[in-house]
Amino acid sequence: MKENISVVPLLFNKEWELSAKMLWGFIKMGKARLTPKRDYHYDHMKNLCLVYFKLTPLCNLRCIMCGQWGDKGKMKHASIGEEVKKLVSLERYKEIVDEIVSQRPVVYLWGGEPFLYPHLLPLAKYMVEKGLYVSVNTNGTYLEKYAAEIVRDKWSTIFVSLDGFRETNDAMRGKGSYDRVAAGFKAINREKQRQKSNYPVMSIVTTVTNMNYQDLDNLAEASREFNLDLHIFNLGTYTNDAIVAAQSVFMKEKLNTDIECLEGYNTGYNNHIDGAKLERILYNIHKKNYGHPIITVPVLNPEKTNTYYTDLETPVRNHCIVPWCQTNIDYNGDVHFCADYPDFILGNIKEQSFREIYNGDRANLFRKTIRACKGGMFPGCLRCYQNMLFGRKIPGY
Ligand SMILES: C[S@@+](CC[C@H](N)C(=O)[O-])C[C@H]1O[C@@H](n2cnc3c(N)ncnc32)[C@H](O)[C@@H]1O
Ligand code: SF4
Repeated sequence: MKENISVVPLLFNKEWELSAKMLWGFIKMGKARLTPKRDYHYDHMKNLCLVYFKLTPLCNLRCIMCGQWGDKGKMKHASIGEEVKKLVSLERYKEIVDEIVSQRPVVYLWGGEPFLYPHLLPLAKYMVEKGLYVSVNTNGTYLEKYAAEIVRDKWSTIFVSLDGFRETNDAMRGKGSYDRVAAGFKAINREKQRQKSNYPVMSIVTTVTNMNYQDLDNLAEASREFNLDLHIFNLGTYTNDAIVAAQSVFMKEKLNTDIECLEGYNTGYNNHIDGAKLERILYNIHKKNYGHPIITVPVLNPEKTNTYYTDLETPVRNHCIVPWCQTNIDYNGDVHFCADYPDFILGNIKEQSFREIYNGDRANLFRKTIRACKGGMFPGCLRCYQNMLFGRKIPGY
């Protein structure tokens, strides 16, 4: 199954400027991988290539496998009113953009549902004007409403979550969500034509679970009509009781941190996936031409697909490089390395500059600790999405 970087030349034909920015991100990531992993007394800003902005915890959907709002999602018990009061202001975000812009990182806006952050449109516009590659990960239900502005403001990429053809998708993401996404793609395509623009590059992201894996080919077929640029199959972030327990002990002992986020991915929605069957389905999908490239994350040797689901203790990637080139800014201003597991806080952008946090003692303690771990990762990182993208592939997988 294809390497992630293989999409760059394919996109290059359609949109060279965006591809060049994306390539720049991959080059900086390669640099971070190749330079010795330092911690204290080093300006880590030099290798910053990707900044996630989790703009809001709010969401209008309740997808079953979601670590925030799914069956075991940690937001289900939060006081929403209190959390919303903590949102970062547009002005502060702009200052952060000004601080990081010289490194030209890719920025990735997500949530919750990013369209529920009240200043999404002006923030994305500001980032684009500053020359950044602006990607937005959305559940797609607001695309129809804002299509004209999205195209006008030249967002670089939208990653739209769709998990199956109509019935399957709606069982995971809620009734009517498939049709709203389809209407959103239609509206964006209409606006691209009307405004004579290639922006945004459009991608579907499909999170594989035991509810949808047998329907992936139907979705691939149905997506032909969306005029996509890319389709990503994400084999899913998940864990089990033993890994959660090991991570709790580790984080308490080494970083004096209580964890609460990993449990949100202990849902069982990856149980009983027939790896051989999934391998065949993905093989057949990758073989066909749908008019746009398809990649699977993590890139796995197809015969090893089964390991991913049946043998959770076996790493398929290791040596996570995220702390050396990326970071996530949470909706309340807290900064973390791990986007999905925001337990260890590096600092808060309402109180400190980004540079202070990114080069600070807590960030360096995290770097030093993960560097000292066997395989360069913590016990809880075994099926983490970021590690799947930015870890080192283990030979054979
Ligand atoms: C948490 S959502 C936030 C953005 C937006 N609300 C959406 O659904 O696209 C980010 C991505 O994580 C995916 N996701 C949800 N649960 C997941 C899981 N257990 N493993 C991996 N990805 C997951 C979603 O499908 C989506 O593509
Ligand atoms: S739309 Fe996104 S944030 Fe909302 S529940 Fe679904 S996966 Fe989670």
